[in-house]
Amino acid sequence: MEQGKGFVVERHIVAAKINGDEIQFSCFSGQTLLDVLRSELYMTGTKNGCGSGDCGACTIVLNGRPVNACLVLGVELEGARIETIEGMAQDNQLHPLQQKFLDYAALQCGICTPGILTMAKAFLEKNPNPTEREVRYGLAGNLCRCTGYDKIVRAVLDAAAEMRSEKSE
Ligand code: FES
Ligand code: FES
Repeated sequence: MEQGKGFVVERHIVAAKINGDEIQFSCFSGQTLLDVLRSELYMTGTKNGCGSGDCGACTIVLNGRPVNACLVLGVELEGARIETIEGMAQDNQLHPLQQKFLDYAALQCGICTPGILTMAKAFLEKNPNPTEREVRYGLAGNLCRCTGYDKIVRAVLDAAAEMRSEKSE
């Protein structure tokens, strides 16, 4: 509990699984998941682009579905499963999407990149063999002010092809 200006601000203790780890954190009633990740847990990979649900920079996966972390409250997360960009590379090995983003130079400032990678991964899990148009629709909620999208779309399509061939080996 903390004393604010003339009122008491209560912190809540929340237990959730983040990138496979059981984690407990404390947060205020009005604190968003985005703020919890960045300010309480120091997981700054998830970016704050707009803070109002418009840009997709803060995309994380909550209980299997991609959502904007700036629109979710930390106190809603008791027992939730959360995946963030920090969990994407495994055993020091970049995810194929991350590698293709590097290969295609599909980023510039990088603010949109964690959200786009997270959304693209969730999208490819549902649709492993998408058309270019489907990729563009799938990523339509993730805005990039730098790249013009073309390299991003090529990187996602190439990663999808690589992931399909890895599966069939
Ligand atoms: Fe959440 Fe823009 S920061 S949608
Ligand atoms: Fe800058 Fe996408 S690389 S916003």
